[in-house]
Amino acid sequence: MLKNKDKLVRSYVASILFDRRLWRYDIEGSIAHTRMLAKEGIIADSDAAAIVEGLNAIREEIEGGQFQFKTELEDIHMNIEARLFEKAGNVAGKLHTGRSRNDQIALDMRLFLKDEIRKTAGRVNDLQRSLVELAEKTRTVIMPGYTHLQQAQPILLAHHLLAYFDMFQRDAGRFHDCFKRTDVLPLGSGALAGVAYPIDREFVAQQLGFSRVSTNSLDAVSDRDFVIEYEAASAIAMMHLSRLAEELVLWSSSEFGFIEIGPSFTTGSSIMPQKRNPDVAELARGKTGRVYGNLLGMMVSMKSLPLAYNRDMQEDKESLFDTVDTLNSSLEIFAAMLKTVKVNAERMRDDIKKDYLLATDMADYLAKKGVPFREAHGVVSKISEYALSRGKGFGELSLEEYHRFSASFQEDVFSLGLEASLAARDTAGGTSPRQIEMALRRAREKLSSSLMEEE
Ligand code: ARG
Repeated sequence: MLKNKDKLVRSYVASILFDRRLWRYDIEGSIAHTRMLAKEGIIADSDAAAIVEGLNAIREEIEGGQFQFKTELEDIHMNIEARLFEKAGNVAGKLHTGRSRNDQIALDMRLFLKDEIRKTAGRVNDLQRSLVELAEKTRTVIMPGYTHLQQAQPILLAHHLLAYFDMFQRDAGRFHDCFKRTDVLPLGSGALAGVAYPIDREFVAQQLGFSRVSTNSLDAVSDRDFVIEYEAASAIAMMHLSRLAEELVLWSSSEFGFIEIGPSFTTGSSIMPQKRNPDVAELARGKTGRVYGNLLGMMVSMKSLPLAYNRDMQEDKESLFDTVDTLNSSLEIFAAMLKTVKVNAERMRDDIKKDYLLATDMADYLAKKGVPFREAHGVVSKISEYALSRGKGFGELSLEEYHRFSASFQEDVFSLGLEASLAARDTAGGTSPRQIEMALRRAREKLSSSLMEEE
């Protein structure tokens, strides 16, 4: 009975099933720590050499798939240390001098996340590149712009795509920012109070590529803000992806027919042969919920925890790993999928129902002739109703008909058109072709000076 209970507890507290993913960072951190201990004369050079040799051998075993991870050894730290004893003998016991698993796990998590943030930033950049390429390929395509999912004003498709570019540019900024606060060495904080050996933390930081060392040992072992920041930035990035996903789903429906997604990114139905379901986009939309959940879970786990380390914090891993994998794979697949998107320019243009999208332009036209804008708005609203009830476009009304609504209309009302409407919106950030050319150029520049290069 007691034995069974032991087993129950052991498997409940074990994290090796998931924290094994940190093995490379655990070894890297241990080697840096060992070198520092020897440099400071805390352990003998020969002992350090034996430990480092053992750790390198373990690295090879893990890489080669020969290492046996054991649940009874609880976590990645104990698994590696136990194996070190087998390989190097009693000297292995010197590795954990001046160190605790509390600062060790904080270190592993930071090393892991620094690598992953670089990857994420690279994937964001790839996706932005795909958006720019599609925008460049379709730079003259006009589409209806929407508010409330109602056709509002004509815009360039490139303008729409570049809106997503800007959204992902902010994401890149958030990951860059989060990197700075992840890039802090916690090792040397001990269990909570610091360590009673003359360690050289700067040396360890330098070996492991950290820019700074933590300044409060209690905080260093209790802090998982960096995990939460990454998860929060990921939640926002997934929100952006889900909005893009939703538009791809809508636009590829037969009702819209604006785009076609490449066949390798859609699936057929087992019963309805005509279907091409946008599964990839739908899944990204769905996975966004998981990523939000991971953030919320972590926020709740950390809430009200007293200082310093508490075992609750072991719960940081699965959700972080899941967010990293979900976000990175979603970014990657979207970058690839966008390259396969075919745009139906005709359909987009035709879909601009009659020319009612020019209503704003017509109101602006009257305003420029001296009619107060509010009044002009009322006039055009009546003309729209009138034209709609007769199934006519603005261009199909006669000047006499226009005059029934306002005497300010002249022959040049017929020169209102989609192109003129676009060209008129030539203010910074607007949809005019001139602004879009500049925006495309700016986007290209940002792409090449990406905030963080993937290693
Ligand atoms: N597996 C633990 C974690 O992930 C490592 C730290 C354990 N520390 C301890 N005092 N039990 O948080």
